[in-house]
Amino acid sequence: MPENITITREGRVVLVTLNRPKQLNALNSALAREIIQELAPLDRDPSVGCFVLTGSEKAFAAGADIKEMSDKSYDEMAEIDFFAEWEIFAKFRTPKIAAVRGFALGGGCELAMMCDYIIASDTAKFGQPEIKLGVIAGIGGTQRMTKLIGRAKSMQLHLTGRMIDAAEALECGLVAQVIPDAEIMDHVMKEAATIAGYAKPVAQVAREAVNRAEELSLAEGLLWERRVFHSLFATHAQKEGMAAFVEKRAPNFRPD
Ligand code: CAA
Repeated sequence: MPENITITREGRVVLVTLNRPKQLNALNSALAREIIQELAPLDRDPSVGCFVLTGSEKAFAAGADIKEMSDKSYDEMAEIDFFAEWEIFAKFRTPKIAAVRGFALGGGCELAMMCDYIIASDTAKFGQPEIKLGVIAGIGGTQRMTKLIGRAKSMQLHLTGRMIDAAEALECGLVAQVIPDAEIMDHVMKEAATIAGYAKPVAQVAREAVNRAEELSLAEGLLWERRVFHSLFATHAQKEGMAAFVEKRAPNFRPD
């Protein structure tokens, strides 16, 4: 049984709750291992259509666990490639939404950005304060945040370590939507159920196509998108989705 996360399931949606509340969900190695171990089989499970990742009311996650790292040497960090396992989480193909309440700082902000998108409660606070600890972001913050919100603001946040609130995060495009704290979990779970109701292979390529925009030139990205669009005409999802529209009925994406 995992000790640092809880996993619950509602239909096709898997809710992952970070569960180190006393440490404000600081991300230690055990938590990272549990996330990968528990979610890897669910990622491959066709009956799972969406992950939701959340924390506590006070903190999504206040960063990587500073106490675990503080005495480490360069050799130790480099030898085990500390934080490398988080890239496995980023590469899971099941759509994933971060529901952020309270602090999402350092590795917490980076974990939220590893999800496909972030929905924030009006209590959320984001930041990359690593510079205050004498380090920089190490789980993708300098890269993902810069692509998400642009160089100027990302640079400001990484150099000053200042926190931004939910309204500022929405304004700069770090989050997709802000929801009152009392309603956020209902809202996100419903949204996740909507995504999970579609055909999983299509949702998977939809997120891959959007993510390609960060990697490819416009010409390459457009061609990749069009070829994948063509290939979806080989799927049950396209036959069923379009037939259902024409026949004025709800689609059934799972024929079993
Ligand atoms: N690592 C380890 N423990 C942490 C932690 C972290 N990142 N953040 C909070 N905690 C612990 C505190 O040490 C404290 O534990 P004790 O009760 O045992 O002392 C407990 O959580 C509660 O924290 P506070 O008493 O500090 O709570 P607060 O409400 O006064 O302040 C806060 C909240 C502003 C978020 C403050 O806890 C804070 O600044 N935390 C650190 C934020 C940070 O620097 N994050 C970046 C970490 S480095 C990183 O993430 C690198 C990377 O790129 C991956």
